Amino acid sequence: MLESLEIRECGKSDLKAVGSLHLEAFGHGEGTEVAALVDDLLNDPTSHPILSLCAQHHGETIGHVLYSSVVVEGNHPGTPARILAPLGVIPHAQGQGVGGRLIHVGLDRLRGEGVGLVFVLGHPAYYSRSGFEPAGLLGLDAPYTLPREAQGAWMVRELNPGYLGKVRGRVRCGDALMHPRHWRE
Ligand SMILES: CC(C)(COP(=O)(O)OP(=O)(O)OC[C@H]1O[C@@H](n2cnc3c(N)ncnc32)[C@H](O)[C@@H]1OP(=O)(O)O)[C@@H](O)C(=O)NCCC(=O)NCCS
Repeated sequence: MLESLEIRECGKSDLKAVGSLHLEAFGHGEGTEVAALVDDLLNDPTSHPILSLCAQHHGETIGHVLYSSVVVEGNHPGTPARILAPLGVIPHAQGQGVGGRLIHVGLDRLRGEGVGLVFVLGHPAYYSRSGFEPAGLLGLDAPYTLPREAQGAWMVRELNPGYLGKVRGRVRCGDALMHPRHWRE
């Protein structure tokens, strides 16, 4: 764990550093798409409310996570829900708990705001460490039908009791995340 790691809400002045860190974290092909996604989400009213958190270490922005608003179209309209995307940590700082802290600080904040469910499409072995579990088995479908081998990557975390097992339906993200290119796993 890095000492003196600060997790704070990102502002407009952080955008350049956030874009560069995603380029490094994801590599220059996928990283360009991820950096563009961050801009698109921030400028997309249908993705708000948004929580955008930066990890700062000795003045350097070394990690970033974004949680944007989603709707569960199903039996309980109005369920407060978010999706975690993207998450990136600069390569030289990986494996030191930065990603985990960004996830946990974000989930704590959202829990306090009364959010019930948080979704993610990501590596199951990584996100299960933070309490995410396969969402499809719980009747919570991804915006697009995923190939069978990617279905375990669609996951959910309950933040406040009374949602899992009760809320069922298909998740619709804000417009910025609804493009099919974001759903290739
Ligand atoms: C995935 C990522 C955000 C993790 O951030 P991090 O700060 O390195 O993660 P943490 O330090 O909190 O956790 C590290 C642990 O997670 C494990 N881990 C990292 N990526 C993993 C993956 N894809 N699948 C399974 N485990 C993974 C590490 O092996 C390490 O395990 P250990 O604690 O037993 O040594 C970071 O590696 C990254 O930015 N990767 C490139 C972009 C990316 O893939 N983003 C996520 C998209 S879903």
